[in-house]
Formats: sequence, structure tokens, C-alpha cells
Amino acid sequence: MKISILGTGYVGLTTGVCLAEIGHSVTCIDINELKIKNLCAGISPIYEPGIEELIINNIKLGRLSFTTSYDKGLEDAKVIIVAVGTPQREDGAANLSYLEGAAIDIAKNIKQDVIIAIKSTVPVGTNEVVKEIIQQNCSKDIVVDVVSNPEFLRQGSAIKDTMEADRIIIGSNNQESARIVEEMYKPLNVPILITSIRSAEMIKYASNAFLASKISYINEIANLCEALGANVEDVAKGMGKDKRIGEAFLYAGIGYGGSCFPKDVKALLHTAGINGVEFGFLKETISINNYQRELLVKKAIERFGILKGKKIACLGLSFKPDTDDMREAPSINIINSLTELGAEVIAYDPVAIDNAKKILGNNLTYAHSINECVTDTDAIFIVTEWREFRELDLPSILKKMKNPIIFDGRNCLREEKIRDCEKIEYYPVGKPSI
Ligand code: UGA
Repeated sequence: MKISILGTGYVGLTTGVCLAEIGHSVTCIDINELKIKNLCAGISPIYEPGIEELIINNIKLGRLSFTTSYDKGLEDAKVIIVAVGTPQREDGAANLSYLEGAAIDIAKNIKQDVIIAIKSTVPVGTNEVVKEIIQQNCSKDIVVDVVSNPEFLRQGSAIKDTMEADRIIIGSNNQESARIVEEMYKPLNVPILITSIRSAEMIKYASNAFLASKISYINEIANLCEALGANVEDVAKGMGKDKRIGEAFLYAGIGYGGSCFPKDVKALLHTAGINGVEFGFLKETISINNYQRELLVKKAIERFGILKGKKIACLGLSFKPDTDDMREAPSINIINSLTELGAEVIAYDPVAIDNAKKILGNNLTYAHSINECVTDTDAIFIVTEWREFRELDLPSILKKMKNPIIFDGRNCLREEKIRDCEKIEYYPVGKPSI
């Protein structure tokens, strides 16, 4: 099938690459010339394990191409997938200007009947508006239908999440359009659920808000475990064995971040508000998450009294491992609080330093290695659970520090390893300190 994709961010690029991999002919369109030039040379604009090999291979096989031209890129497409960003507006609502722009660009350039599958996360009702915009702006003899096709991939495991998706949601009010989109995804051999457009739009927000709330719930349980001397990891394991609860997304820590959960929870709350529904539950999800982001700083204040003049090593900057994405990363709140309190911060991250510099500037020192980062520090904050932090050579790290104190915001160090150390103070989340 001939498919065009608008937007080469995480969602658009991964979808394009995976659809090419299962045999479709895919053209990805983006207005950013440098991005397209790099993609044509097999260079990915995002850090995502495995994606560059797939790009290069599918370009070679003639199944994947990239262009800045709408005219060329939309030629003969049976389905156009739209995956442009919907960032957060100041009032918490989703900013739909990129999507509306994309709709007009499609309408002005399309020359054949086409189905438009919207992957961008959009408030309920938006797909209907997009359909109207396109119909008003395109030639009257062209039939355009819009299908809601929300995306559930995670950064860092985007390829796997697409190729082995738990489900594909197709929201359509037209049976034939739903059938064509279903046929496009069939080779993936994953469960497909067809719903109305509005239900599909709602499934995306309801899923992300539920997962974010699951994290806030376990974080609040962790805080209670600390007060009561219980261990949140055992509690989560015990809860997760119940199939109705499930083990995933029960890792306590310093809160959820990234470009999706914070934005989508706020957008759903905003939608509820303007529709007269008081969604207090989501307000709690957000407020627990805000509290959790300050947790390590609070623990450090309890330990040291004042943080002025203390040198703190921050291991990890990205909002989670295997990505260089700094959007809504808890590290931003943590580092800003530490520097406001007069602490000196030195940070290390395997891939996110360039992006971190754009947000945090020169408020801190950036280290080139773990060893450089921890030398002569009063404490380590583990902020992102990168594999190399899980595998820290603790005795050698502790020797380099002024004080052998670790605040582990992701519970990523093994207890036996810590107990083997002669001198250490270890403060995890939701578990007794050592
Ligand atoms: C999330 C969803 O998981 C995807 O299903 C969805 O498609 C995506 O948003 C989106 O809407 O585009 P992502 O933001 O890439 O994916 O990251 P996650 O792996 O879900 O992690 C989000 C945050 O939750 C991270 O900060 C992570 O550290 C935190 N988290 C996750 C926890 O604190 N505890 C957990 O148990 C799990």
C-alpha cells in the first residue's frame, strides 16, 4: 500500500519505518530541510535504539523515502498518516495549530481520494474538525475521510512497541475507511479494535492518564511505606501478581515526565473542566507527581540541614533511560531546586547533555563521565535509571566522593551491592535506608 506520513518526530518516523519494514511503500514528509537531508542519508533526528538500521535498510530496498515536498510526498497515497506535535498551551489545552496547518497543506496538495489517519494526540472531537478543514480547502471532486488512529509507543522502545503493539485502535464512522486502515496494519498481526472516532480519541487520553495515575498511586504508597518501614518494591510485586492490577508501571520514584504524560493528564483535566466534569482524581495525580519531583531534595535537606555549599552529583538528566529527551524531565526541577538552595551541581548523562544545556544552561557543570561527575561530591542523586548507573562500581565510586551518600530516585541499585560496601549511606524511595 502507498502511504504518506506527515511529521518525522518519534511517532511519525517510527510508524513510517515500521510500515516500510512490513512491506508498504512509505514516504515521510517534513518541512525541516536539514532533518529530511539527514534522514535521506540514514541519520535519525531522534535517539531510538535500532531505528537507523531500519531506515537505511528500507531506503536501500526502495520502500522508504523522505521529502519536504507535499506535492511529491502525497502522490498516489491511499492513506496519509498525520503525526505532527500537539504541544501544551498555557491553559493546559492541546495546541492544535500544527495539526490545522497540516490539514490545510494536505487539502491544497491532494489530487486523489484518500484516508487520513490522525496519530497526533488530540482532544475528543478534533478529528471531526480536521475533516471539515480538509473538505473546505480541497477540490470538491475529491473524497477525504478522517480516521482516528492513536499511538501508544514509548520512547526508547518505539520500534518494539509498534511491531508488537498490545493493540491498534481505529476510530472511524465509515466501515470502508476502517477496513482499509485495518488492512494496512494486518501484517503486524496484533489485535485491532475498531471504535467510533470519539471513543478512539478518548482511549488515548484515558490510557495515558491511567498510567500516570498508576505511577502517582505507587509513589504515594512508597511515601507511606517509608513512614511505616515497609518496602514498596515488595508491595508492588505483591500487588502486581494480581492480574487485575498487573506488574507494569508500579515502579516508585521521582515522578513521571516526558512529552506525553504531564501534557496529556493536564489536557484531559482541561477537557473535563470545560465539559462540566470535576475530575479531582487527575488533580491529585498531578499534585503527587509535583511532590515526588522534590523528594530527593527534601531528603537531602533532612540529611544535611542546609544544602548551601554542598556539591551534588546528578547521575542522569533525560526523563527516562534510552532517550535524550529532556521534556518535563524531573532532573530539571531537582537541579533548579538544588541551585536555588545554593548547592553546586555537577551532572552526567550518557546522551542528554546537549538537550539539557538548552534548558538548564550554565547553572551547573556537565561532566563527561561518571567518575568525573562524582569526584569530591557530598552526595549522589540518581535521577535516571540508565543501565550504566545500575551497574555502578560502588566501592570505586564511593572512594572518589567526599561523603559516601547516595539518594537513589529510581531504586536502581541492588541491596546486596550496597550491603557489601564498608561505608555508605543509601536513601532509596519507599524502602528503608541503609
Ligand atoms: C508514554 C506511554 O507509555 C505510551 O504508551 C504513549 O504512547 C506515550 O506516552 C505517548 O503518549 O506518546 P513515554 O512518555 O515514552 O510513553 O514514556 P514511559 O515509558 O511511559 O514513561 C513515562 C514516565 O513515567 C517516565 O518519566 C518514567 O520514568 C515514568 N515511570 C514509568 C515511572 O515513574 N514508573 C513506572 O513504573 C513507569
